[in-house]
Amino acid sequence: MQETVYSPREDSFLLLECVEVKPKQLVLDIGTGSGIQAIKAASMGAKVIAVDISSKALEKAAENAARAGVLEKIEFRESDLFKKVKEKFDAIIFNPPYVPSEGIKLTDIDGGKNGREVLDRFLAEFKKHLQGKGKCFFLQSSLNGVKETEAKLEKQKMRFRIVGRKKLFFEELLVFKAWRE
Ligand SMILES: C[S@@+](CC[C@H](N)C(=O)[O-])C[C@H]1O[C@@H](n2cnc3c(N)ncnc32)[C@H](O)[C@@H]1O
Repeated sequence: MQETVYSPREDSFLLLECVEVKPKQLVLDIGTGSGIQAIKAASMGAKVIAVDISSKALEKAAENAARAGVLEKIEFRESDLFKKVKEKFDAIIFNPPYVPSEGIKLTDIDGGKNGREVLDRFLAEFKKHLQGKGKCFFLQSSLNGVKETEAKLEKQKMRFRIVGRKKLFFEELLVFKAWRE
């Protein structure tokens, strides 16, 4: 597996627009990459835990957070999704690697079969890390299958809405907001 640090692009910016965070909230940014989502949440006054499977990404994110003046508001942790995360959050943010691929070679973009390998592991676990009124914001591509995501959320009795969309050349990016019924 090759650790590659994701430079923010359309998906990052779309998710950034859709996330709702309030001052003093506890926020989890999974797959923080460059730290773009964590830095915005921290700049809005939230306390943030930012995790990534890549130590290289975490180093870059910490460097960017220092430059933005919010380093002390973000705790960085190396973790495969929720493995090193025990807390419950007011908001969870995730821009997963979602490009359909044969296996996972590039940690920042390869999503495995149908681009869902990491997303599906996330969907199976996020609910228990949300506070009662907590909200989850995550991104996917139309290439990953929208109905499949909706079915997984319905099965867990989560309410959800698609709060962001952006059409690109050969796919559409979508942002889901999910919360408890
Ligand atoms: C598409 S990038 C998103 C980066 C950043 N959040 C953004 O919005 O630009 C996906 C990120 O997820 C991380 N990642 C991939 N698999 C992961 C896993 N199992 N657990 C934690 N992070 C993971 C990658 O290293 C990468 O930083």
